[in-house]
Amino acid sequence: MATRKLAVILLAAGMGTRMKSALPKVMHPIAGRPMILHLMDTVSGLCPDRVVVVVGPEMEQITRAVAPVPTVVQAERLGTGHAVAQVREALEGFDGDVLVLYGDTPLITRATLERLLVERRGQRDPAVVVLGFKPTDPGHYGRLVVGAEGLKAIVEYRDANEEQRRIPLCNSGVLAIDGKRLWSLIERIDNKNAKGEYYLTDVIALARADGACCRHVEGDPMELLGVNSRSEQATAETVVQRQLRDHAMAAGATLIDPDSVWFSWDTRLGQDVTVWPHVVFGPGVVVGDNVTIKGFCHFEGCIVADGAILGPFARLRPGAEIGEAAHIGNFVEVKQAVVEPGAKINHLTYIGDARVGAGANVGAGTITCNYDGFNKSFTHIGKGAFIGSNSALVAPVVIGDGAVIGAGSVITKEVSPGALAVARGSQMELKGWADRFREQQTKKEG
Ligand code: UD1
Ligand code: MG
Repeated sequence: MATRKLAVILLAAGMGTRMKSALPKVMHPIAGRPMILHLMDTVSGLCPDRVVVVVGPEMEQITRAVAPVPTVVQAERLGTGHAVAQVREALEGFDGDVLVLYGDTPLITRATLERLLVERRGQRDPAVVVLGFKPTDPGHYGRLVVGAEGLKAIVEYRDANEEQRRIPLCNSGVLAIDGKRLWSLIERIDNKNAKGEYYLTDVIALARADGACCRHVEGDPMELLGVNSRSEQATAETVVQRQLRDHAMAAGATLIDPDSVWFSWDTRLGQDVTVWPHVVFGPGVVVGDNVTIKGFCHFEGCIVADGAILGPFARLRPGAEIGEAAHIGNFVEVKQAVVEPGAKINHLTYIGDARVGAGANVGAGTITCNYDGFNKSFTHIGKGAFIGSNSALVAPVVIGDGAVIGAGSVITKEVSPGALAVARGSQMELKGWADRFREQQTKKEG
């Protein structure tokens, strides 16, 4: 591709009324990440010289999410053409190619954007290149009117006649414009149309009137799905999940039932990982090689080393680091804790703000009492220690290497390495008491 400068404008000022949400539309997540950030990621692959995001008033959430990329506020939402006009100052003096993307079309790929730029930089020197697509249901998308000489116009659905509405080729919203001609086109857009809006799509007819040529390239409908409602968001999520599952399998993971495993955009699985059904990977999960994840686990913000065995029903929360060949069993929750290699925590346990030493065995029902209602405190469990079932370890507390804790203990003081600590009511026995009791009661009844 000829090297020309590139600026990208992302439009995100629309209200997204059909989402019925307090959250701006483009902040709604797909695979655990706001739509707009999916786009930012794709765009950064093009190494643009400038990127500007157009937001509406009171959309600081978007401004924070995209920083340090600058945002421009479109005070009144008067249409996509008006939105682009707001960027004029921010792109002062820029005369390279300008790519305009809509924030609610998050699945587009870099390869598709590159195709658009190649066409724009091609021999015909088109003023505008539009990305078209043929969805199964063209619905209310704008239609591309194409003639022998290229793209003639884009007609919005509400302004289209019956014949135009039958055109299967739709406008995805994505277009590449020659920066030298952009502003002279934008300033001539008016709002004399069905919606009373300044349509960006009018630049085609305007460029044609100037004698310039316009082109279109066709994209995959799956990539160009616009998200305007929760239902379209769910469709986009399904598409992305399918891609993430395929990607995990291509990288060497076995998914026993792919459709029941949910990934985040950044989930990383090693080779020979086996995932049983109904597992959810929230954001920030990294799993090593040869890990087995049994059914119904829920993970987020955690690291799992090679050879670990997890679940069924394990929950790993942010800051959990599971060491090599460690076992985390059913109904075990681990938060902000390092579980060293070979340690076993197999049943009904909460480990939070803790370190579990290598090879330690944590018995069923163990709880690290890490929170007193105000402060979080830390529990150290030494290497090779054995924690008897149903123990409460009241933090801050240290259990020495190789120590044994008797079952049912409430441990509040440091336990030395190699010691036995038992902290529970001691057992007493009254010989023959039960027999005497039973005899008395039977007499009363008789
Ligand atoms: C737009 C296109 C239509 C295309 C469809 C693809 C126009 C006139 N129409 O219609 O041809 O088929 O997208 O999905 O462009 N936005 C602003 N400021 C505004 C208005 C919109 O920033 O004043 C942003 C929105 O946040 C959104 C994008 O522009 O990200 C598209 O706006 P939307 O209202 O969804 O346009 P559509 O009616 O879907
Ligand atoms: Mg839309």
